[in-house]
Amino acid sequence: TIRAASSYADELVKTATTIASPGRGILAMDESNATCGKRLASIGLENTEANRQAYRTLLVSAPGLGQYISGAILFEETLYQSTTDGKKMVDVLVEQNIVPGIKVDKGLVPLTGSNDESWCQGLDGLASRTAAYYQQGARFAKWRTVVSIPNGPSALAVKEAAWGLARYAAISQDSGLVPIVEPEIMLDGEHNIDRTYDVAEKVWAEVFFYLAQNNVMFEGILLKPSMVTPGAEAKDRATPEQVASYTLKLLRNRIPPAVPGIMFLSGGQSELEATLNLNAMNQAPNPWHVSFSYARALQNTCLKTWGGREENVKAAQDTLLARAKANSSAQLGKYTG
Ligand code: 13P
Repeated sequence: TIRAASSYADELVKTATTIASPGRGILAMDESNATCGKRLASIGLENTEANRQAYRTLLVSAPGLGQYISGAILFEETLYQSTTDGKKMVDVLVEQNIVPGIKVDKGLVPLTGSNDESWCQGLDGLASRTAAYYQQGARFAKWRTVVSIPNGPSALAVKEAAWGLARYAAISQDSGLVPIVEPEIMLDGEHNIDRTYDVAEKVWAEVFFYLAQNNVMFEGILLKPSMVTPGAEAKDRATPEQVASYTLKLLRNRIPPAVPGIMFLSGGQSELEATLNLNAMNQAPNPWHVSFSYARALQNTCLKTWGGREENVKAAQDTLLARAKANSSAQLGKYTG
């Protein structure tokens, strides 16, 4: 054989199916320090480690969060950080029955020879980092690369994105981390929904081609796709039923049923839109668990409600729980507003 199955095979399947469990999804709270700084600036706070710690403490310790949230993606700083009460963030998550995950990509840089597109860095030294993250308690990983529709996408950018995701996925599985495979097709642009569909079909075809070439075990991965929608600046908007119909058609045509979970990103949709679209996709049984891995669509109101003030922590946690509960209902196809 080309390669022995990962010694973690059984554990990977167990982790993936735990995360993809009924009525639960992922809280993405892995904003890089730069992105977290932008979020904090929006409520007038400085981008200090103490402020990031205070905010992430609020998120991980929201009482009962584990009823709706099965996994939380952390930035490296948070994986090694303690809460403001001195408990390890990772331990607080595990006590809440939430699997800790870790963003392992090193971000986007310009892709030479493309149409002003980007590629995602982070493969150098990745095997030693994933081994250390597992030791620290992480059980899944995320690698986000992007594809831009207005800027192409060029064949080069799609191939690079797919290959990078596949190498990362193989390395993560070898360290016992379930890889979340995330080729984000950016919302930006004036294109219509059919154009998004065509690009998404090409991207996912290539991603699965290289995942197979790299001997990635499909039962031990999770996907994080963008929903198929018109571009953010398109004149014609789509209803949740249209988004669901296009997106499910894409999944049926490109995603093997062996994959346990499809955890959508929110990509700049409003909190309500993201919930309604997910709910529409769960009106009939699907071969995979169809759920969420939202950052902004879970956190926007929570962050605003907190505003950096200790006396608002409880109210902010309540808004996080309300969004988590709404998306939990949407995962079950039972959201009623
Ligand atoms: P949004 O849900 O805000 O798009 O973020 C999800 C995420 O983790 C993107 O990588």
